[in-house]
Amino acid sequence: MALRVNPDIDARSHPHISTGLKTNKFGIALDAVKELTHRFSKAEGIEIVGLHIHVGSQITNLDPLRHAAQAIVSLASELRDDGLAIDHLDLGGGLGVSYDGTAVPGADDYAAALIPIVKESGLAIVLEPGRNIVAPAGALVARVVDVKNRPDGKVFVIVDAGMTELIRPMLYGAFHRIEPVEPIAAEEITADIVGPLCETSDTLGTDRRLPRPKPGDLFAVLDAGAYGAVMASNYNRRTMPAEVLVDGSQWTVIRRRQTIDDLLALER
Ligand SMILES: Cc1ncc(COP(=O)(O)O)c(C=O)c1O
Repeated sequence: MALRVNPDIDARSHPHISTGLKTNKFGIALDAVKELTHRFSKAEGIEIVGLHIHVGSQITNLDPLRHAAQAIVSLASELRDDGLAIDHLDLGGGLGVSYDGTAVPGADDYAAALIPIVKESGLAIVLEPGRNIVAPAGALVARVVDVKNRPDGKVFVIVDAGMTELIRPMLYGAFHRIEPVEPIAAEEITADIVGPLCETSDTLGTDRRLPRPKPGDLFAVLDAGAYGAVMASNYNRRTMPAEVLVDGSQWTVIRRRQTIDDLLALER
């Protein structure tokens, strides 16, 4: 088995998705590992062969990932000196994506940062990237249901998707680009794009410049492929939307829209 270690490293990401500080609930503190491995060495049926870290998600500065790798490589070396047969290091996930289009380190930069640190150990490396692969693969498509002018001149664009379909803006103050699916020929406005739920936090984007839409227009909330559908909920008895797989010019419904009957089927 592998031990999840907490290296006390600040991922410099949002606090809710940082997992590698000693104040976070994850992993075994570095200074407690040796005592534990010593105890396990006498336990039958348990063999510690790996060390695991995951210091957080949406990490767009490579330094925390570099420091975490250094910490686990030197811990592995100490444990091997103690006679432990460590054969792999699991460096977790965490490599972020650019939600707003600014440049962030990619997989090549990550590899270039890691290799000099891990190579000399000779250990097998396991990586668990999630968001970096999945986020750009998905978009949440929402239809405008109403356009409401605010007294201050701004506008609320009310769409039929919200925090129940994509909770990231509400949960982490996350920014997602929101673009019209088809060009809209209209004056530019500044708008908050909000969902239909009875919560002020049900907001997908604030102060966005966009052409004034009409009810019925479609907008795409980009990079919704990770921590989107999996965090969706039936809050307020909202039913989950359909999921559509797009492959070139082909598309297929891979998960049908949920119905009220689906929700009621669980009731006794
Ligand atoms: C242990 C572990 N590995 C990998 C990941 C994937 O992280 P990310 O999607 O940020 O790459 C997570 C996400 O929570 C995780 O908890």
